Amino acid sequence: MKIECLEHEYPDGTRSVCGLTLKIRERESVVVLGPNGSGKTTLLNHMLGLLKPKDGRIKVLGHELPEESARVRERLGVVFQNVDDQLIMPSVLEDVAFGLVNRGVPREEAFERAERVLRDLGIEHLKDRPPQFLSEGQKKLVALAGAVVTEPDLLILDEPTSGLDYRATRRFVRLISELKERMGFTLVLTTFDVDVAAELADRVVVIKRGDVIADGTPEEVLTDVDLMRSAGLKPPEHVELLRELGVDEPPLDLGEAKELLKEMLGEA
Ligand SMILES: Nc1ncnc2c1ncn2[C@@H]1O[C@H](COP(=O)(O)OP(=O)(O)OP(=O)(O)O)[C@@H](O)[C@H]1O
Ligand SMILES: [Mg+2]
Repeated sequence: MKIECLEHEYPDGTRSVCGLTLKIRERESVVVLGPNGSGKTTLLNHMLGLLKPKDGRIKVLGHELPEESARVRERLGVVFQNVDDQLIMPSVLEDVAFGLVNRGVPREEAFERAERVLRDLGIEHLKDRPPQFLSEGQKKLVALAGAVVTEPDLLILDEPTSGLDYRATRRFVRLISELKERMGFTLVLTTFDVDVAAELADRVVVIKRGDVIADGTPEEVLTDVDLMRSAGLKPPEHVELLRELGVDEPPLDLGEAKELLKEMLGEA
């Protein structure tokens, strides 16, 4: 996936995501971090062919966007920031099966596959419920089921854990890791939860006012306290603590951080 110098002007003259160049390799997991209004959703909307850049080119799965959006759409799974926009069918099961039916999979097979994914995600009991009356967290899981049921090559998730409680977030992260292992998709996910980024990313891209201000491994980016703060993001708690205690390069790994702290306490 290749995005070169992306700039968008909204009808009211607002500009966003300027000068952004990003290359994402197949099967890479990229977490896009940035505060509110930094351009995360705008970036994803360009990757989805929903917005056309004023300048530059976007190539996703080998296709030029937005011209070849339809070719990309069939190989894509998406969870939008506002999942209410995508849950449209009268029941959860029909909603999850929708993408398969739409791609011409026979109804019976589509419903079987949808049930299997609901089971995998631990929400089979919701299958006959109307999606609009579910809780926010349940809706997110239903949208995720619909996004992965087609076994996409590219999964795009816009703040999938916002509105999820601690346990649901942990479960979601575990699920994405398992699904990725099993299906091998490329993952692009936005969040401002640094713990989610640490667990899921091969690579972290930080954007601020539409520009990439950092691009590296989770270790490189998330442990850079000054960078994180300047982007308006909160570094992981243990990284901040170790920096306060005078450690120049705090580890991202919690186990390593504990060992380091023990050593420091021993010395003290
Ligand atoms: N339809 C629109 N018309 C005008 N400006 C817009 C529109 N959509 C987004 N913007 C502007 O583009 C900028 C980036 O917005 P975007 O939604 O991409 O941010 P975000 O990083 O996803 O934020 P959040 O974390 O709140 O979801 C903001 O300044 C926003 O006001
Ligand atoms: Mg957004």
